Amino acid sequence: MARATFTVDTQLFRELGELLVGEDATALTELVKNSYDADSRVVSIAGRSLGKPENSLITIADDGVGMNGEQFNHGFLTVAGREKTTGDRRSKIYRRIYTGEKGVGRLAARKLAKRLEVESWPWSGKLDVQGRLISQPTGIRATIDWDKIDRCRTFDDIPKSGAVRVETIPANGFRLAGTTLTLRRLRKSWTKKDIEKFQRRALTFRPPQVFTGQIPETFVARPLLLKSLFSQPAASNSEEPFRIDMLGAFDIVEPPGVSDAAAAQWVLEILSEPKRGQVTYTMAPSQKFQRKYPKAQVERAVIKVKRAQNPIPFRGRIYNLLNRSWDGSIAGVRVYMNGFRVLPYGEAKNDWLGLDDDTTSRARDLLRNLKGLAGDIPRSADSEEETKMQRNSAYWGLSR
Ligand SMILES: Nc1ncnc2c1ncn2[C@@H]1O[C@H](COP(=O)(O)OP(=O)(O)OP(=O)(O)O)[C@@H](O)[C@H]1O
Ligand SMILES: [Mg+2]
Repeated sequence: MARATFTVDTQLFRELGELLVGEDATALTELVKNSYDADSRVVSIAGRSLGKPENSLITIADDGVGMNGEQFNHGFLTVAGREKTTGDRRSKIYRRIYTGEKGVGRLAARKLAKRLEVESWPWSGKLDVQGRLISQPTGIRATIDWDKIDRCRTFDDIPKSGAVRVETIPANGFRLAGTTLTLRRLRKSWTKKDIEKFQRRALTFRPPQVFTGQIPETFVARPLLLKSLFSQPAASNSEEPFRIDMLGAFDIVEPPGVSDAAAAQWVLEILSEPKRGQVTYTMAPSQKFQRKYPKAQVERAVIKVKRAQNPIPFRGRIYNLLNRSWDGSIAGVRVYMNGFRVLPYGEAKNDWLGLDDDTTSRARDLLRNLKGLAGDIPRSADSEEETKMQRNSAYWGLSR
């Protein structure tokens, strides 16, 4: 019997890129997450000439641990590599919990642009007086031409196509470690509206302050169930700050903030504790809403669940607008892990909670996911009370 192997068509890159990320803004998230995993303290995202695909570019520059030639081959050029799944799954310097695990995130770069350039300066193990990482004397520069890769049929054809090139470069003196990705020949030209949408979306990489801190003062109870969605046991030095700077064409619009959340009529907080076999829901109306409907009160429900059916501990907070929609850039319920946005993305048209579906089909007068729980839902004798179905756009929420 002859020995055989798999042949991989280069289409795999496209398929993975498309499957992974729905939108360009989320594609960029993957690259920012890599900078976080690489122990950078600042990552700068800059855009230039975004309206003209021929000379448009986006750069993502970080001050993290970088890569040498070998790390580049094993990390960056190995698809679905095991770099971050072995060991304790924490970064070397700041002991951050890795956001990466699948080994495919950087393929998101393919979705944004036809060409990727990487310049990386590996950390020498030394810090300067300001705690910045000092580079080794040599770095690497690499280019990946995705068009050329597409023209290769299988992965075996890539080497001779020249689609991927790597060279080592000398530092010529003192340098800080870090990695800069340059995306050239963007796949689309960006209108002002695209950029604005992108800025707001990009800001949801990290959870907005109305979720990480207290709910706004406009609500009748504060704190409600949770002081913050992200209050973690103060892990020793894993709290090293991480900042995202937006530059050039991405220089920023106002982040969605307190003013938005303060417009909500209701806020709901959810605490899922599989170990205790329960999920707690607490909701509160805004003071304004309560003045109008005095019977609107803080409601609390504890629902018993079986650990096997409900194994995931999480906290959630959802701001609700009645009969109105949140701005499209923030509407929907998102999921965060370790402080970063993850799938399911919960943006427009991503109806992962089935809310839009339930609102339109309205088969029974109870949301499908709540079937069987009717007895747990508090009932009151308030004649003005009604069951109301609302679409995703009425909710701005976050869960972790
Ligand atoms: N900015 C960066 N600095 C240092 N190394 C990087 C950087 N970006 C990517 N790498 C290296 O490239 C590898 C591949 O990144 P990629 O995002 O594809 O996979 P991952 O982060 O391991 O997992 P996931 O697919 O879940 O994000 C990383 O594991 C890391 O070794
Ligand atoms: Mg990654």
